Formats: sequence, C-alpha cells, structure tokens
Amino acid sequence: MAIDYIERIPNNVNLSDNRRLQRALEEWQPRFLDWWKDMGPEGFQPYEIYLRTATSVDAKGWASFGYTRMPDYRWGIFLAEPDPERRIHFGQHKGEPAWQEVPGEYRGTLRRLIVTQGDTEPASVEQQRHLGLTAPSLYDLRNLFQVNVEEGRHLWAMVYLLHAYFGRDGREEAESLLERRSGDQDKPRILGAFNEATPDWLSFFMFTFFTDRDGKYQLASLAESGFDPLARTCRFMLTEEAHHMFVGETGIARVVQRTCELMNEHKTADVRRHGGIDLETLQRYLNFHYTVSLDLFGSEVSTNAANFYTMGLKGRFEEARKDDDHNLMDATYGVIVPQNGVAVERQEPALTSLNARLRDDYTMDCARGVARWNQVIKRAGIDFELKLPHVGFNRRIGAFATHAVTPDGRIVPAEDWERGRKAWLPTEADHEFIRSLMVPVREPGRYAPWIAAPARGINNQPPGFEYVRFS
Ligand SMILES: [Fe+2]
Ligand SMILES: [Fe+2]
Repeated sequence: MAIDYIERIPNNVNLSDNRRLQRALEEWQPRFLDWWKDMGPEGFQPYEIYLRTATSVDAKGWASFGYTRMPDYRWGIFLAEPDPERRIHFGQHKGEPAWQEVPGEYRGTLRRLIVTQGDTEPASVEQQRHLGLTAPSLYDLRNLFQVNVEEGRHLWAMVYLLHAYFGRDGREEAESLLERRSGDQDKPRILGAFNEATPDWLSFFMFTFFTDRDGKYQLASLAESGFDPLARTCRFMLTEEAHHMFVGETGIARVVQRTCELMNEHKTADVRRHGGIDLETLQRYLNFHYTVSLDLFGSEVSTNAANFYTMGLKGRFEEARKDDDHNLMDATYGVIVPQNGVAVERQEPALTSLNARLRDDYTMDCARGVARWNQVIKRAGIDFELKLPHVGFNRRIGAFATHAVTPDGRIVPAEDWERGRKAWLPTEADHEFIRSLMVPVREPGRYAPWIAAPARGINNQPPGFEYVRFS
C-alpha cells in the first residue's frame, strides 16, 4: 500500500477521512518538532543527510534514499497491510476475529503496553543526541541519524494508536511522551535502560545491538496481538528496527576487526597504546549492555505476562510458528533461578514464564551475533572469545536481582563480587579511555583509527560518498 506524502502527515491509514483525528495529530505535530529540535541530534539540524524514507509498506522497494534535513524528514503513520481474515491465534480469545477496536475490558492494560513501548522511542533519541559531535566517519554519522529519525517515527506510530483508539486518556499519554526526559531526576523515562547515558560510540553500537534487539522482541510479540492496529503497526516497525541492529552488529564487528589488525601489527593485546580498543574492554562493555537489556524483559515469572497472553494482547516470539495449543494452560517451561546458593533450572508454568521465554529467545539471537564477532577474531588468528555473561550477572530486576552472580554464573558473597567488578564491568578509567578516542572524522571515506571501514556503503554507495553535506 502506497504512503500518501501529499498530506501534512504522511500516512497509509486514510487519515483525511477522519477529520477529528487528523486535526488532533496536526496539533501534536508542532510539539513533536519542538521536542525534536530540543532533544534530537545536537548540532546537525541544518545539514543534508543521506536518509532512507519509507515509500510503501509492502515487502519490495519500500524505501527510497535521498538527501534530507532532519527536521524535514517525513515522519508519518505507516501500518503493515491489513489481513481482513485475521484471527486472534492465542489465549482465551483464540479463533475470534482480530479486534479492530479496543475491547473495553482491556483498555487500561493495552494503553499501558503501548505507552511503555512508545516511551522507549524518544528516550533513545535523547540518549544519543550528543553522539553526532564525535562520529568516527560520515558513514556512521548518517547511520546514527537514520536510527534517530526512525525512532522518532516509532514514536509517531505509538502516538497514532493512542490518539486514534484511546480518546482523552490517549491524548494525555501522547503529551506525556514528549514531556518525560531520559535520565531526568523528576521526569525520567519509564524503563531503566532508557535512562542510562549513551556517552560514546562504543556504547552506541552496544546499545543498538543489545537494547534495540530487546525492542525487536517486544515488537515481535506485540505484532502477534489480537488488537489488529497494534499488530500491524509493530510489524512495520520491525522492518525499520532491523537496520538499527545492523548498525550495532556491524559497528562492533568493525571495532573488533580494527583491534585485531592492531594486535597483529604490534604483536600485543594491549592495543590502547596504538589507539585501539582492547578485547577485554569490549567484553566489559558487552557485559554491561547485555545485562541492562535483560532487565527490560521484566521478572522471569510474571502474572502480568501471563495475563497479557491470556487476554490475547501480547504473544510469544513467532507465536504463529509454534506447534502447540497456544493456550499454555498445562505446559511448563524451564526457568533459570537461584536456589540454595546456585543457579538452577526450575520448571514453572509456561504462562507465567513468558518473560523468561522471550528473554531466552533474545539471548539466542544475541549469541548468534557474538559468534559472528568471534569469527572476525578467529580469522585474524587470535585466541580470544567474546562471551555473553550468565543471565544472573549484574541484574536489577528478576530472580537474580538480590544475588551477586559472576559472569560465569557462580553466586558469590557481595564483597567478592565487588572485588571482581572492575574486571567485569566498564570502569571509570575505561570510560575515560573510550572518551579520549572520540574524535570526529568528517572527511568522506575516512574512519577514526579505532574502527575499520564497513564492507560496503549504504545503498551500495562508493567508499568516498558524502553521506552528510556540511555546506
Ligand atoms: Fe524503535
Ligand atoms: Fe530501534
């Protein structure tokens, strides 16, 4: 389905047929732009960026590339194609036609799910707003801005649902989404990881790999929702999310590659002296970003998660492909929990362990990316492996929140953990070192010395392509 770009708010939901909604969103639009100018990428609003814009939502050729100033980006409302035959395929409403309106009894719950997802979108833009000033290349600078404008569009996606389906409460929530601020003492963003700073590009790549991937799993389970407009919205958001994770995975892979080159060239693992990021430091950043992202899945055992599922609001990852009764009344699932001083797998009702299951799917996905980074190390002939730490390590939420767990999964006394900490998590000295590397590179085709060039350009552009025009 084509997107109407003639309208003030580009959309594929026939917005012009609903005057009231159109007017409400047109009033929200200038407030969004004010927020974007205040809290969006600092210092780059006047320049032309080589960006991708969605042109249709079907699988082939939905994106077009061209130069755009970010405030002119065509944010809009794009839902995946409707399926008039679609039915709810899990929970107690299984088999009923998918809902086109919000069922009254689930209104509050659905609104909360949408607001929690929606809040992460502007939060990440806020977290990343100073990064442009220290980008390691024009290619990376452009990728940062692509991620930022799309997170802005994801906010639009959630705000559309709030305005279109939740009346006055929805409009108030849409306002609040522009009022909370990442890291703010008084008005923080809703989820912990979205109040952490993203102070440097190593953190940015780790964030897009680990934290955007949490987004993928949350969106994928909401894309199963019985509330059809939410499902269709999330389905289209997932196509944009894929690029964010690509930025993270290839970003870290390029750092690893550069580190290995320096290790081989100087015959030492201590590449800091040669302007690279040593593998031990990469492991500590990985440990931090992976574990704060695990917290985003919530408690392993959760009656909320069970209710969302039974109500038909939030499914499992790839629900439709799972070969079971899609009710989970009698099924169990193995959850890793602390018991008598060790981490053990315990069978829990499958319904209440849905957070753990989604998190396990996420972990397997992360592990595949880490394996690809390890291939880069192996190809360089270096004997080192990056590893995901144990799920109990460094947790603030869930069964392990009150336990001190080492990266290899041993539960230890708190003092021992504190002693190990500097080997496991980034230290102030690490942060300082990484900060010292953050020197902007703006000459087309050149890269900062701590990161390798990408294998290919965006949209197959040549190596010296000018992704950002400063004139
Ligand atoms: Fe997003
Ligand atoms: Fe994202």
